[in-house]
Amino acid sequence: MADRHRDVAQGGSGLMTVAVAPQFNPFDPSFTESPYELYANLRDNDPVQYSDLLCGWVVTRYDDVAALLRDPTISSSVHSATPTSVTKIEIERLAEQPRAARTIVMMDDPDHARTRKLMAKPFRVAAIERLRGRVHERMHTALDELADRGRTSGGTAGPVDFDLVEDFAYPLPVEIFSEMLGVPGEDQPKFRRWTQSVARSVDPVLPADERYESIVALDEMYEYLAHQAALKRAEPANDLMSHLVHAEIDGQRLNDLDLMSQLVTLYMAGHEPTSVLIGNGTLALTRHPDQMEMLRNDRSLLLNAISELLRYDGPNQFTRRITTRPTTLGGVELPAGAVAYAGLASANRDPRFWGDDSEQVRVDRANASKHLQFGAGPHACLGSHLARLQAEVAFTAILDRLDGLEVTGQPVAATRMFLRGLTSLPVRATIAPR
Ligand code: HEM
Repeated sequence: MADRHRDVAQGGSGLMTVAVAPQFNPFDPSFTESPYELYANLRDNDPVQYSDLLCGWVVTRYDDVAALLRDPTISSSVHSATPTSVTKIEIERLAEQPRAARTIVMMDDPDHARTRKLMAKPFRVAAIERLRGRVHERMHTALDELADRGRTSGGTAGPVDFDLVEDFAYPLPVEIFSEMLGVPGEDQPKFRRWTQSVARSVDPVLPADERYESIVALDEMYEYLAHQAALKRAEPANDLMSHLVHAEIDGQRLNDLDLMSQLVTLYMAGHEPTSVLIGNGTLALTRHPDQMEMLRNDRSLLLNAISELLRYDGPNQFTRRITTRPTTLGGVELPAGAVAYAGLASANRDPRFWGDDSEQVRVDRANASKHLQFGAGPHACLGSHLARLQAEVAFTAILDRLDGLEVTGQPVAATRMFLRGLTSLPVRATIAPR
C-alpha cells in the first residue's frame, strides 16, 4: 500500500509535494499483516477519510473516535443509514436472519437502554468476581492437560509444544460463558462448533456452502437456547440464563425473540475478543521481554498491563456508527445518514493522545485504562469485567506456570476488517505444576 503524493501550489515558488494517505483497504494483505503503519498515515494525512469501497468515513484519531462513540445523537442501526451498496447487502442478510437483527449491538434508545438494563446485573463487578474460582479451575485444568503431553514415562515434566490460541485461549471463553449461562456440561462442546461456524458468517465474502452451514448452526443454537430458556423459566437456577429469563424492570421483560438474540450476541461478542486478548497479549509480552520481566516481578501491575495490551494490540479494529444529523468530525462535515467507521485500534496508538511512546508496550503506562478497546458511550462493552477477569486469571497462569515460554512458529492472524487477532500461536514451554 504505497503512499500517494499530491502537488500543491506554494506561494510563488511553484509546487510542493505533500504526502497523501493511501485509500483505506481492509482487503489489502498488508492490512492483515500489520495495519498500524497505515493507521499512522491516515491519522497524519487523512484522519476522516471517505472510502468509496466501504461507502463511509474511516475515522482514525483518538479524539474523533471517542467523540463519535459518545455522541448521543449517533445511531448504531444500519437502518438509519442512507442506503448504499454496502448497507443494502447487510440489510438483505438481516432479512435472512430476522432474529439477528434484534441484537442489542444494533439497537438505539429507548430499546437499547431498556434491554441493557435488563441484562446488566450479572455483568457487574461483584457478580463476575464470584466466578473467579470457576474460571481459575477451568484454566488450570487446561494447563494440567497440556502438561501431561510433555510428561515422560518416568513422570517428570518436560517441555511441551502446543498452540497457545487453539489449545488454550480459544476454547476457554466459550466454555466459561456456557458454564456462566448454565448450559449442562455435556452440551457445552456443541457451542464451540456453533460459535465457530456462526462467527464465520460475518465475513463479507463467504462460499455459499459455508454461509448455509452458518445459518444452520445459528438455527440449531437458537433452538437449543430456546429449549434451555423454557427449562429455566419453569425451574430457575442460580445462573445467567435464569436471570435473563426472569429479569423484569417496571413490569417489562425480554421477550423470547430478544432474549435469544441477546444470548447469541453474548456468545459471539465475548469469545473471540477474549481469546485474541490472551493470544495477542502473550505474543506482545514475548516480543517485549523487559515488560514481561517487569510484570513477573510486580504483579500489582497486572490489571494495568491488561489495559495496555488491549491498547497496544487489541482485537477490535473498528466499530460502526450512523449519523442522524450533519456531524462535524476532525473538521470534516458528515451528512445525516452517513456511515462512520470508528477506528478503535488506530485511536489506541494515536500519539496525539498517548504521547511519543504510543507504538511501544509499557505495562506501567499511567493512563492505559483510557484505551478504547471496550468502546465508550452507551454501547460500551457489557462484558468488560468478565473479559478482564478471564485475562487476569489467564496471564497469571501463563506467568506462573509456563517456564521458558518461547514462540516456535509463525503466528497466524485472522483477516477481517472489524476483528483482527491471532488464530494460531505455536509455543514451547515447560508447564509447572499448580
Ligand atoms: C477482550 C474482550 C472484549 C473486548 C475487547 C470487547 C469489546 C467490545 C466493544 C468495542 C464493544 C462496543 C461495540 C460498539 O460500540 O459498537 C462491545 C460491546 C459488547 N460486548 Fe464486548 N468485548 C469483549 C468481551 C466481551 C465479553 C466477554 C462479553 C460477554 C460475554 C461481551 C459482551 C458485549 C456486549 C453484549 C456488547 C454490546 C453492548 C451494547 O450494545 O450495549 N464482550 N464489546
